[in-house]
Amino acid sequence: MSLNPISDKAAVDDIAIIRDALRRPLHDLRISVLDQCNFRCPYCMPKDEFHEDYEFLSRGQRLTYDEILKIAHVAAGLGVSKMRLTGGEPLLDKKLSELVAGLAAIPGVNDLALTTNGMLLAPVAQQLADAGLHRVTVSLDSLDEEIFRHMSGGRGDLGRVLEGIEAARQAGLTPVKINVVVQRGINDHTVLDLLDHFRGTDHIVRLIEFMDVGNRNGWRLDQVVPSRHLFEQVQKHWPLRRIDQNYPGEVAHRYEYVDGGGEIGFISSVTEPFCGGCSRARLSADGVLYTCLFANQGTDLRESLRNDADDEELTDILSQIWLQRADRYSELRRPETAEAHVLRKVEMYRIGG
Ligand code: GTP
Ligand code: 5AD
Ligand code: SF4
Ligand code: SF4
Repeated sequence: MSLNPISDKAAVDDIAIIRDALRRPLHDLRISVLDQCNFRCPYCMPKDEFHEDYEFLSRGQRLTYDEILKIAHVAAGLGVSKMRLTGGEPLLDKKLSELVAGLAAIPGVNDLALTTNGMLLAPVAQQLADAGLHRVTVSLDSLDEEIFRHMSGGRGDLGRVLEGIEAARQAGLTPVKINVVVQRGINDHTVLDLLDHFRGTDHIVRLIEFMDVGNRNGWRLDQVVPSRHLFEQVQKHWPLRRIDQNYPGEVAHRYEYVDGGGEIGFISSVTEPFCGGCSRARLSADGVLYTCLFANQGTDLRESLRNDADDEELTDILSQIWLQRADRYSELRRPETAEAHVLRKVEMYRIGG
């Protein structure tokens, strides 16, 4: 394995922790297994554009499980201990538990999570847990039937998503986190109801500022509800107390209800960027590695994989990508300038948030 002089040798055998140009380690790999989704959330896959004839990646264009596992092994050798499966909607992949089993068996992976919209979760939650998945995060923007339907592009069934969350709890895929993207004038007035519903359940709701990801979601600054406003609203109903980070670089600011109602998180990527601790790499379903959610280009690993690159070569490629990384998009763009931003960025549905 080739080691760069600025790498630190970790205490764990055979793991070389590499750091990027801003001294951030590679800790977290987010793997998108496919770009398709059964929802059409307007802020992610607006249905006018993602219509019946839209061409998603074909099976041959997507990485195989063996290819994904090869990259994941190499990434673990470079210090990745946290992996997340995303999409599109990863549960559209009917054999996902096979991939989960492969990832769970990689030495050093101590946090294996899945992000899903929850529609297809209930029937497979136990199977995923048995395969070695640790936990799930369910995207759920509102408990108001009409707003939920609108925010899923008319495709979502709220009852089924709630069943999915319950099945995940029963299967021990905990803590279950509920990701809520808050948009002013769309679902912000339903946030307190949603929090009330999950208080006391051990599920962790995280309120996310609507971000200017991709080029298609018609992002506008006036649709962002700053976390501090939401915090003040919540605090008026249920006083909150700050709690420590789970790990360095955690994106959510964690709080707990003083009355014992459980944990709540705020993800403030627009008003309080957290690039300084960003240790995340993202692998798209067609094998492109991105080092930032807002990247306009990545590195094609599929070609190397299909040209039979061995682990050593792949380790070199990944190391070089990470060593050169200097991304800090959210810190560089100020909220006021993001609207005018014309940079072509990767779409969220291709790298799963
Ligand atoms: P945990 O492992 O449970 O702490 O989750 P996570 O922090 O990895 O977060 P998750 O994948 O659930 O992401 C939640 C939201 O945070 C995403 O939908 C994004 O809106 C935002 N987010 C996550 N990672 C990044 C990032 O690297 N940059 C930015 N700007 N936003 C991010
Ligand atoms: N801003 C913030 N979060 C977003 N997500 C999708 N698009 C956006 C956006 N523009 C979230 C989803 C899901 C995760 C994968 O990313 O709601 O929780
Ligand atoms: Fe699908 Fe998630 Fe995008 Fe909604 S946000 S369209 S559920 S990938
Ligand atoms: Fe990381 Fe890019 Fe997000 Fe900053 S904007 S936290 S560098 S993914």
